[in-house]
This record gives sequence, C-alpha cells and structure tokens, in this order.
Amino acid sequence: MHNRWWRDAVIYQVYPRSFADSDGDGMGDLPGITGRLPRLKDLGIDAVWLSPFYPSPQNDAGYDVADYRAVDPLFGDLGDADKLIAEAHNLGLKVIVDLVPNHTSSAHEWFRQALAAAPGSPERDRYIFREGRGPDGALPPNSWTSMFGGSAWERVPDGQWYLHLFDVSQPDLDWGNREVREEFLAILRFWLDRGVDGFRVDVAHGLVKEETLAEYDYPTAVLGGLEPVGPPPPMWDQDGVHEIYREWRELLDTYPGGRILVAEAWVQPAERLARYVRPDEMHQAFNFLYLEAPWRADALRDTINTTLQANDEVGATTTWVLSNHDVVRHASRLGLPPGHGRLHGIGPEDPQPDTALGLRRARAATLQMLALPGSAYLYQGEELGLPEHTTMPHEHRQDPARARSGHTVVGRDGCRVPIPWEADAPSYGFGPSDASWLPQPAIWAEYALDRQQGVPGSTWELYRAALAARKEHALGSGSIAWQLPGDSGFSAPSGGPGAGDDGADVLAFRNGDVLVLTNFGAAPVSLPEGATVLLTSEPLDADGRVPTDVTVWASI
Ligand code: GLC
Repeated sequence: MHNRWWRDAVIYQVYPRSFADSDGDGMGDLPGITGRLPRLKDLGIDAVWLSPFYPSPQNDAGYDVADYRAVDPLFGDLGDADKLIAEAHNLGLKVIVDLVPNHTSSAHEWFRQALAAAPGSPERDRYIFREGRGPDGALPPNSWTSMFGGSAWERVPDGQWYLHLFDVSQPDLDWGNREVREEFLAILRFWLDRGVDGFRVDVAHGLVKEETLAEYDYPTAVLGGLEPVGPPPPMWDQDGVHEIYREWRELLDTYPGGRILVAEAWVQPAERLARYVRPDEMHQAFNFLYLEAPWRADALRDTINTTLQANDEVGATTTWVLSNHDVVRHASRLGLPPGHGRLHGIGPEDPQPDTALGLRRARAATLQMLALPGSAYLYQGEELGLPEHTTMPHEHRQDPARARSGHTVVGRDGCRVPIPWEADAPSYGFGPSDASWLPQPAIWAEYALDRQQGVPGSTWELYRAALAARKEHALGSGSIAWQLPGDSGFSAPSGGPGAGDDGADVLAFRNGDVLVLTNFGAAPVSLPEGATVLLTSEPLDADGRVPTDVTVWASI
C-alpha cells in the first residue's frame, strides 16, 4: 500500500557535508546532492535521509541547530532544499530530514534570549536552568556527564547552570514547557508543507528527563543510551517522551502520502525500543542492537529474533542498519582484531583493521541485512565498500567528542570523510576543486564510483544487484524461517577447523523463495541440493561451496 511505503523501504543516509560539493569550497551542499540523485536512483534505493543542513555554528557538524526553518549558507538556501525535494520526488525517491529536538545550538535565538533574561524568566524556562550545589552554588546541580565527556552542566555569569547532555554549545530544551512543544509542532508543519516525507528524530529517547534530575553515577557511553551497568538512567527513555511522539503522529497523519517519524533512540532491551513504534507513535526506530552485534552466528540470530519479536508485538516492522555518521564504518569495524570492538572512532595509534577481511565481512553482512524483512538503512559510501579513515592525523579531526573527552575518544570524523566519485578527478570527484573539509586518503581512488560501475563483483554492483533482487523477491515484506543444517535438503559444514556438525557457525534462513546463508566458520558449507545461486558476497569455492565470511542468496 502506497501510504505504508516505509515498511520495507531501503533508506540511504546522505551526510550533506561529505556527499557532493557543487561549488568547490570543500563542503558538500544541497545542489551537489540534487545533482547526484540520479546515481542513487540507479543504485535502487527508495528514500534518502539527509543529516542536518540548517543554520548552525557547526560545533557538532550541524546537530547544533540555530534556526530550524532555514538552510545554512554552507549548504545552499531554502530554494535549493525545495529543488532537492522536487527532484527526488520526480525520480520516485522519498526525502526524510533530520530533526534535532533534544537541544538547540547556543546560537539559537531562544538561548540568546535565555542568557539575556533573568533566572526564573519564561526565556530561561525553555531550557533546563538550575541553581548549583554547595554554599555558593559553585558545584553543578548534579553529577550527570555529557555524552561527549565532562560535566553535563555549564555555569552562566549570574551563577545559574544549564544542562547540556552533549556539547556545551547544545543546551537541552525543557520539554515540560508547552511553548517548546508548540514550536516543534510548527517546525514539523514547516517541513511537511515543503513536501518532506518524514523526519529522523535525533536523540529521540532524551527529550524528557526524570523530574528531580536524580543523581546518576554510572558510566554513560559516548552517544549511548545503551547502558551496560546501573539502574535505568534518569536522562534517557523516560515514559513521558511517548506523549510527545503521539502528538507528532497525530499531526503527521493529517498529511497525505505516508509521512514518517524515525527514532534515533539508543535504548535497550528491544521491548523498550519497540515502545517508540507503537501504532500511534513513530513508524520506525533504528535497530542499533543489530549494528552492535558481534560477527557471530549465534549473536546475530539472537538479535534478529529478539528485534523481530519485539516489533511484531507492537505491529511494527523492524529496521536494520550497519553504519551511520556516528559509528566506525562496518567495512572497518568488522575487520578489527578480536576484542577491539570500537564503535566511535579508530585513530592512527590504535590497532588497525584488516581492510580485506573487513570488506569481505561487510559485504557478507550487507547481503544478510538486505534479505531481512523490514526496512534497511544504508550510509553513504558503504555501497562503495568505503573503510573508515583510521589514519587521519588528529589535527584535522573536528568531532567535539574528541576535545571534550580529553582526547581519550578518537571521535567520529573517520566515517565522515567526503566520498569518492571519480578516481582521477580533484577531491576524487567530491567537488570541482581539491578542497575537502576532512582529508581524503589516497586509497579513495580505488573505491571511486567510476572504478566500480559496470565492474562485475564490485561493491557498488553487489549493492545494486542486491537491491534489485530484494525488490524482485519482495524480501522486505516477507518473513523469515530459520534453517538448520540437518533440515531436509541442507547439508552440514563438511569438516575442517572450526566446523561443527551443529551448524553453530552458519546462519541460514528462508525468506519466501530465497535461502539466505552466511558462513561464519572456517570450513566451507555446501548449499542444499537444487539450490540456484542468485547472489554471493564473494565467489563460491571450486566445489560450489560457501567459503568463510560469505553470504549467499539462493532460490529453492
Ligand atoms: C545524535 C547524532 C549525533 C549527534 C548527537 C547530538 O546522536 O546522530 O551525530 O552528535 O545526536 O545531537
């Protein structure tokens, strides 16, 4: 059904700074994106999600928004946004924009007014200002820490403190304030009226804080609500957030064409996350449990089961994601030595990923992901097999998490490097000049689109073929049935180191008429009698068996 397009959609994340630069200033822009949309259509995606392009001091790469109803001159203007939306729609692509409601930039008009106004004023009440502790209020109101490191509180000249769960230039809004809610409803209308098909909601689990701002002395991960220890954190996943999304949903439902809300919520377990996608709330939530699962058959099987079940219970489809602008690209993450599961950056001093192994596994992982029922999110450059830029000299790095953590966190710049389109052009075809806001490594030439288009076996062609086959076999709207070696017609791994007769190293399922099999073990695995291979992430061995770290789609 047209209005439910998102249930099985493949949604491609464009990171505007790094996608395509039309004017040669080294910063990607909206006309650059519009010009390249035909390539994305050609890839076979259904929708694009654009990371923020709004006016911003760019202290957190645009996730510090100073004006929610305009375009930063770095990226163009509102006319360019309109053209982008129109061109995408002409091509049959949907457009999702990023909405950052947890905090504004400190350069936002509201925050300027708050600083100019007195404690207790309505201007301050839009944010979370509090008195400090200690005799002269010189201690922060509580022990909360910023996701980027350091205290989550900053003192202003008159002695009050304001909360910022992220950078000091990202003050948290007070969602208990009706004026804040009205303002965001108006912002939603502004973009809905311009024709956008949905919103990716930044830090969707953070808007409401526990009322008393109770102490919380447990470690909080950078960007994460995925808390390994401690009681439920008072700043994340409070029940009150759901009321906000119900109100937004009501508004979206008054618009035609299936407009959607996607939660970026680092919440676990899966049942808590599924609460964001109940029928009267959001449509989708990113499945970070899948992204974080280790490269093992049992771990992935459990994650897939758990998330499918949790979503089924609320009648939602599941999403799948392996990379985005906040995590190490999966082509590098999956090539790290065991025990180095770094998520938020790899620096030159760190153990380096095995590039070939990482790419091999990344291709296998993607082929598995694209066969799962529900919606899949791709991050720009993964269709080229791009690795993380792990050796970027630190002086180029801009992620505020790096400075705020006292340089203990490398930061997320390595996955944000402008992407290569043409091997022999300046800035690898990112723009008309050599300029690039983050340095591109020389190996980018190998990954450029023009080196991959029409080349059998290239990562680009693998993604294209997979997206086409996914549509043809309706995998996105299917359902899965696990297959175990021992099931009729399915033979067990045929010996060798690491092979178990129990199929522990194999993950296999059927989705409609397609058998999907990933071999995690060292020994090759045979396909069932009569299976016809549709796609493989790497060639099969000489005996037609599935080698290690390979995914196969076969029709049976
Ligand atoms: C989200 C964004 C991330 C940003 C943070 C603060 O996690 O994806 O890039 O730094 O929110 O807005």
